[in-house]
Amino acid sequence: MTSAIAAENLQKVYRNGRGVLGIDFRIGEGEIFGFLGPNGAGKTTTIRSLLGLTHPTGGRASIAGRDVVRESVEVRRVTGYLPGDPALYENMTGRQHLELALQLRSIRERGHAQEIAMRLDIELDRKIRQLSRGNRQKVAILLAMAHDPQVLLLDEPTSGLDPLVQDAFRDLLREEQGRGKTIFFSSHVLPEVEALSDRVGIIRDGRLVAVDTVEALRRSRLKAVQLRYGGDPPDFSRVPGVRGLEVKNGAVTFHIAGNTGALFRLLAEHPPLDIAIAEPSLEEVFRTYYGGGAS
Ligand SMILES: Nc1ncnc2c1ncn2[C@@H]1O[C@H](COP(=O)(O)OP(=O)(O)OP(=O)(O)O)[C@@H](O)[C@H]1O
Ligand SMILES: [Mg+2]
Repeated sequence: MTSAIAAENLQKVYRNGRGVLGIDFRIGEGEIFGFLGPNGAGKTTTIRSLLGLTHPTGGRASIAGRDVVRESVEVRRVTGYLPGDPALYENMTGRQHLELALQLRSIRERGHAQEIAMRLDIELDRKIRQLSRGNRQKVAILLAMAHDPQVLLLDEPTSGLDPLVQDAFRDLLREEQGRGKTIFFSSHVLPEVEALSDRVGIIRDGRLVAVDTVEALRRSRLKAVQLRYGGDPPDFSRVPGVRGLEVKNGAVTFHIAGNTGALFRLLAEHPPLDIAIAEPSLEEVFRTYYGGGAS
């Protein structure tokens, strides 16, 4: 079976030795794949290499079974791309951008684009210059999706979008998935990737350090716990999965991974005055589960 997107030891190494240092993945048709990594990890470089916008310095990649370098025209025909920093013409309206994009692809059909514009509440008739950052981002999303491509490559698509628009956008992507579309999107926000993806790839320093289902990521995920006690706190060191325990006066902090049943039983017996359980940061996930050494 051909993968919708495949990378084989894909490399794009810049002169300074940074970039993408050899990554492998296969993404199936109809899959939503979240590409997660901190600033400078290589997300944009990977996406641009997948589109043939930058020439890989090694390895290969394909989209819909077509080599992204040798068959770049065909690859771009079946792909929709949202750049990380969309370039729009300040003096043109969203509708003019849309018309231009569709004419360049000789597409007459407008229904799909209109549907997206309506769902994301896009201000099509104002000049880009008059639009806020989030509203520009919505226009750029429309331009990536308007020709109803089979594969979507979206570089930080939700950046600048308010929570309501993010929800509408997520619903839209799920429907596209329902229509068999394959979606590859980058982000540096763990909860967002979890909310939308089937599988997640984590990139750090130009290398893919993990590819896993969201389920597996969730199971292995640690939480940061902070408790406050009036008197002596109970002994949390024997609770399975607890690490990094610190106790200072009545304040207790630790991380916990895996099943939290034993923790909650102990908390029920010794209720704290105050409790806060937080999601780990991306860095904490890296440090704890993917080999440490986060710089
Ligand atoms: N044109 C370039 N010349 C030299 N180095 C580059 C170039 N473009 C990117 N890099 C380097 O390659 C690495 C990966 O950059 P990339 O833009 O792909 O990261 P990213 O994951 O998209 O980061 P961000 O979250 O900030 O968008 C970084 O170390 C960056 O400095
Ligand atoms: Mg980037």
